[in-house]
Amino acid sequence: MSIKKTKSKNFYITTPIYYANAKPHIGHAYTTVAADVLARWNKLNGKETFLLTGTDEHGLKIQKVAEKAGKEPQQFVDEISSEFKTLWKKLNIDYNNFIRTTDAPHKKAVQAALQVLKDKGAIYQGTYEGLYCIGCEQFKTENELVDGKCPDHNAVPEKLKEECYLLRMSGKTQEQLEEKIKNEFQITPDKYKVEILSFFKNQKIKDISISRKNVSWGIPLPFDPSHTTYVWVDAFLNYLTGLGWKGDPKKLPKQWPPEMQLIGKDILRVHATIWPIILMHLGISLPKKLFTHGHILAGGKKMSKTLGNVIAVDEMIGKFGVDATRYLLMSAGTFGEDVDLTMERAAEKYAADLQNGLGNLVARVLTMVENYFDGKIPDVDLKKTGEINKFKEHAFEANKNDFKVVWDSLSKGFNNLKIDKALGLIISFGEGAGGMVRKQNRYIDFSEPWKLIKTDKEQAALVIYDLLESLRQIAWLIRSFMPETSDKIFCQLFADEKERAAELSKTLSEAQKWGGLKPGTKIKKGENLFPRLK
Ligand code: ME8
Ligand code: MG
Repeated sequence: MSIKKTKSKNFYITTPIYYANAKPHIGHAYTTVAADVLARWNKLNGKETFLLTGTDEHGLKIQKVAEKAGKEPQQFVDEISSEFKTLWKKLNIDYNNFIRTTDAPHKKAVQAALQVLKDKGAIYQGTYEGLYCIGCEQFKTENELVDGKCPDHNAVPEKLKEECYLLRMSGKTQEQLEEKIKNEFQITPDKYKVEILSFFKNQKIKDISISRKNVSWGIPLPFDPSHTTYVWVDAFLNYLTGLGWKGDPKKLPKQWPPEMQLIGKDILRVHATIWPIILMHLGISLPKKLFTHGHILAGGKKMSKTLGNVIAVDEMIGKFGVDATRYLLMSAGTFGEDVDLTMERAAEKYAADLQNGLGNLVARVLTMVENYFDGKIPDVDLKKTGEINKFKEHAFEANKNDFKVVWDSLSKGFNNLKIDKALGLIISFGEGAGGMVRKQNRYIDFSEPWKLIKTDKEQAALVIYDLLESLRQIAWLIRSFMPETSDKIFCQLFADEKERAAELSKTLSEAQKWGGLKPGTKIKKGENLFPRLK
């Protein structure tokens, strides 16, 4: 399948905006790297992409930690927010905007939107009574608690009874939402859709409180400044204000609606209820896809400071480097399910997949080019390449066709968010998996170019060409996952800067055509891509 360049099509993708109550951790990195990979992939496919991330900076939780730290809340969130930015820079996250809910334009737009909701009769005054979990910043029902505690935060929620403003969620609104979830508003993977629909079946959703009287750290309601806006309502609107929206439902940014919203399963419920209902009241179309992923566990357990099993992102980056960290996160397990991560397993995978896999392949091939072909792409008849007929007894298919299959599966994989599977096709991990890197390494073992060069120089040249061309294809295939490594491989394959620039200006459909390397051009062997771990 060829991938068409459709510049007109937008690809707007969002991550949650993370609470600025504590430093970023590996879970935040997981979602954000995945979003970056998806954005890069779509950009390579010629789409006009917009990746939005940011920080959620209001509410009681943040008000309390700032107080405890003896800081003004604004100063506190300024510091944390910049830590998120620093980490995203380190991890090579190519976002288009980093929204902060304390940004003045955001606050103004939230107030404008609330006024619209009030004018439409979607908001009314009343009282609310319930059990509030500060960790979740949500009211909880009795049956959501385990031993009287919020299972996500292991804390007893606070009893609250307050005069407030409420958002209509019940009755007809719920029915309309159910219809949308069944038809246009996709919640994937399917099990999460099932979970939400069965939640609707078992209970009627209640109108929710969208204001707080006793929380000062929030956006004042435009129609009653003695209340501040409920932090989730404030936060959800980031997905619009992050594009420059000013609060007018009739003037939507051109990127709207999001093609994909990535979230963790912890915040699925609110994203599948409050968020679409706000949009429905405003008369704004819903996002196309809410993609929910599982949680990262460490050794089968939830990471916690008490258990001492927290994996720090900085530690991973320090030990493995940026691209390998991105790789290890994205290949940690099935995207959508809970995935388990330990430093030991990460180190094993680093050694197997990257150091001895991809890194070794590049080094082996380029060393042979230097030793046998004077550092140049072998002079071969391109029509004879990509077939590997001579070694069929080793169950190799024609290389060319194999790559076609991989490109095809990669597109499908990305569309269904099978990010880890896509990666497996390229690199290969797990029992019996046969990714392209692994196949090329085996191709070298079976074809033994060091012997061939003495007995059949033409055949040796064909084998080496195949390997080099495979590396070119692999450099493109990994580009959205490991952008720097991809660049490094291109630098090695194209010593000439102009040739390299020409290669990099290709569209993906041009790039995947077999035979992109010109016989006779110079290569430049570089340092090992993935050094041995200390
Ligand atoms: O909920 N594994 O912010 P938050 C994988 N501000 N992903 C994880 C994770 C883990 N162990 N822990 C966290 C909020 N995440 C709100 C969101 S959006 C309008 C407002 C990721 O800082 C995952 O994406 O608690 C999860 O949904 C998110 O961080 C929660 O981040
Ligand atoms: Mg959380």
